[in-house]
Amino acid sequence: MRFLDIIEKKKNKERLSDEEIQFFIDGVTDGSIPDYQISALLMAIRLNGMDEDETAKLAEAMMHSGDVIDLSDIEGVKSDKHSTGGVGDKTSLALGPMVSACGLKLAKMSGRGLGHTGGTLDKLESIEGFNISLTEEDFKRQVADIGFAIIGQTGDLVPADKKLYALRDVTGTVDSIPLIASSIMSKKLASGSDTILLDVKFGEGAFMHTVEDARRLAKAMISIGKKLGKDTKAMITDMNQPLGRTIGNALEVREAVDTLKGEGPEDFTELCLTAGSIMLIQAGKAKDRDEALAMLEEAIQSGKAYQKLEEMVAYQGGNVEQIKNTELLPQAKFKTDLKSKEEGYLADIHSMGLGISAMKLGAGREKKEDRINYGVGIEMKAKKGDYIKEGDTLATIYHDSDLSDEWLAEFYETFAYSDDKVERGPIVEEILE
Ligand code: URA
Repeated sequence: MRFLDIIEKKKNKERLSDEEIQFFIDGVTDGSIPDYQISALLMAIRLNGMDEDETAKLAEAMMHSGDVIDLSDIEGVKSDKHSTGGVGDKTSLALGPMVSACGLKLAKMSGRGLGHTGGTLDKLESIEGFNISLTEEDFKRQVADIGFAIIGQTGDLVPADKKLYALRDVTGTVDSIPLIASSIMSKKLASGSDTILLDVKFGEGAFMHTVEDARRLAKAMISIGKKLGKDTKAMITDMNQPLGRTIGNALEVREAVDTLKGEGPEDFTELCLTAGSIMLIQAGKAKDRDEALAMLEEAIQSGKAYQKLEEMVAYQGGNVEQIKNTELLPQAKFKTDLKSKEEGYLADIHSMGLGISAMKLGAGREKKEDRINYGVGIEMKAKKGDYIKEGDTLATIYHDSDLSDEWLAEFYETFAYSDDKVERGPIVEEILE
């Protein structure tokens, strides 16, 4: 087989056979295809697309390019959940304890934050001593014992994706539905769970800007799951404003704890309950949404959901006192309320802009090597649709150094006002199966 012929085929809008896709991924993994030829095929795929069978084969070949985790020795259904990333997205920290308190097994591998989006591992590491690098054996033992663990990637999972993503990043080929879908799903499939719930976000702070694009991506990923025999469902959720009220690592841990105690923000709580109910149905723990919601409410009201977080933090070496009393989590030196200079209905809160503002305080990374400041961040005091008067507090800023004029100007630019009443859309736009 000649790789040039494969490039020519996709350039001419023809479909690739299973053997050709396998040849491509084998050559990416063993380094036998040069970067310029890989890049040419990526661009041909970006421009001419792939059908559902090609996309599923690509995901399958990528999944098998490295280690595949075997969770079969843990009893019961193992669930997984993936978010396409957003601002203030601390879902795993609250959802994980909620569903495992209802008997679910959640074996989750998460990532770090980059740019305007945060990462679950960074949030967890704001807890003193928390260990995200368990061995595969300890990871499985923890899931078997308490039903829930979150770690960084173990082993050599999907090396083909690492290579392809690095090339896509510099060749303008990131924004391709078959390439994104196969990249995400190959990693989920290699993580070894039985069911997958995808939280596909849309909006200004998300990877997909419109509901239609988010729906197309979700459908492409569900199709991969179905073709490869994994129960895969998706929620389409709104990222047109930060999720919940906080952006920043320790602040988000605090908000997850509040939510587990039934005192969380409305949008975040609703997202967790919807995700949790889908996962409980997928795992056969509940027969329908009403039963699942009742189980989750009971887990919250009884304190079992909160207890599960304490248990998980203790298992992974974290300081449980900081969960019992979140004031003990890292704190910023200064706390400043920023007031509105205008009056009107809040029509827009640009989540990407706020994510970047939080990153510039030190809550996130501009470059992979940057260090995180766990205590800093932004706590929103206003949400989209609220009527705001001049002088009302928009947000409390937790910071370690002075807020520069440039930072303040960028912060204020993230809020847009309207004289007309603004409707708040639902946080979960749609559920796809
Ligand atoms: N996230 C991934 O893991 N892969 C992509 O291609 C895009 C987002």
